[in-house]
Amino acid sequence: MSLDGRKVLLIVTGGIAAYKSLELVRLLRKSGCGVTAVMTAAAAQFVTPLALQALTENKVYSDLFSLNDESEMGHIQLSRAADLIVVAPATANTLAKMAAGLADDLASTLLLATDKPVLVAPAMNVRMWLHPASVQNMAVLAARGVAVAGPDDGVMACNEFGPGRLAEPAAIFAAIAALLTPQPRPLAGRHVLVTSGPTHEPIDPVRYIANRSSGRQGHAIAAALAALGARVTLVSGPVALPDPAGVQTMHVETAAEMLAACVAALPADVGVFAAAVADWRVDNAGSQKLKKSPGGAPPQLALTQNPDILATIAAAGPQRPRLVVGFAAETHDVRRYAAEKRQRKGCDWIIANDVSPGTGIMGGAENEVLLVSADGIEAWPRLGKDEVARRLAARIATTFTP
Ligand SMILES: Cc1cc2nc3c(=O)[nH]c(=O)nc-3n(C[C@H](O)[C@H](O)[C@H](O)COP(=O)(O)O)c2cc1C
Repeated sequence: MSLDGRKVLLIVTGGIAAYKSLELVRLLRKSGCGVTAVMTAAAAQFVTPLALQALTENKVYSDLFSLNDESEMGHIQLSRAADLIVVAPATANTLAKMAAGLADDLASTLLLATDKPVLVAPAMNVRMWLHPASVQNMAVLAARGVAVAGPDDGVMACNEFGPGRLAEPAAIFAAIAALLTPQPRPLAGRHVLVTSGPTHEPIDPVRYIANRSSGRQGHAIAAALAALGARVTLVSGPVALPDPAGVQTMHVETAAEMLAACVAALPADVGVFAAAVADWRVDNAGSQKLKKSPGGAPPQLALTQNPDILATIAAAGPQRPRLVVGFAAETHDVRRYAAEKRQRKGCDWIIANDVSPGTGIMGGAENEVLLVSADGIEAWPRLGKDEVARRLAARIATTFTP
């Protein structure tokens, strides 16, 4: 992939993964892309300015109050000369400063002073990433249109496991290339409704029935459709994920709320119903916390059927999206159940997967799906959920291409 003549301003912040920024510089330089690096003071604890200077073949900047650089208003000029600003790795601290608009060093000042597109590649300990402060900061940045690469799941330098690992340099490079290369927008002018995540059905004000859906697949689909130019409304159950960039996200808890949000979002050209909606809710949910009484019997929960969101939207008459895509998560007989479900729900496609515990799919980073349509059943290989999303978005786009 050639990025000849393009210019990236790379901000390296102080995380243990900072050494991987050197490999990213190498990939960018190999593609013909010019790179100027800015380091935070903390970053210089992890990689040397000399290494970045040698690989970028450019001066490395780190001082906001440099007399020489500031005689040319360096903190403004640096971003003006770039096509894209990339923060890799992006620490929790720098992401928080970006979200809050703080400008107390060269990196944060030029991030506030720029009008260029920004890509961040977060890298931090799993608990830092999942902390409500970081979740909120990422939501703020996403809503502002900041692009995000990663983070990945996996074993971390601190020996913990989970999301927070810096995306691989090759993946960050691919995200940069996508942002610097004009993308086809085959879904421009189309409105797509996507549901994602689990629903929570209250038992009483403090307890609820839930499921193991993480929302990763649905959120990735919403992002992939937006990348193809669609206006996307995402109706999300409770998840620990940031809202995808460039997507209008509505947050709901119960199946009834999800249905109401979906109906309110119509008309749509496409509906993708990836949420794991609870089939049942508690009919006799307590308005006060249910109490244990000594020697008393446990409460009897009476369940009642939830509204069927997929079937309701697929039968919405003139409001029915032209293409309705349902999801089927099964633990056995996946092909048979998926084909039956497509007929029964009146949808066009079913994306089916086997969520038996051994597959690691529910809540995991990968998915292995079947695309069930009127034309038959297509088996896709096991792929990252982002890649499944990109393939599905591309397939949806083909149905709108004359
Ligand atoms: C050994 C070590 C590793 C660290 N790794 C990370 C990391 O991966 N991600 C992160 O957000 N902070 C990490 N930190 C904390 C940051 O260095 C610290 O928050 C710092 O203030 C970040 O400054 P900066 O955002 O200006 O670069 C690490 C600290 C130490 C001592």
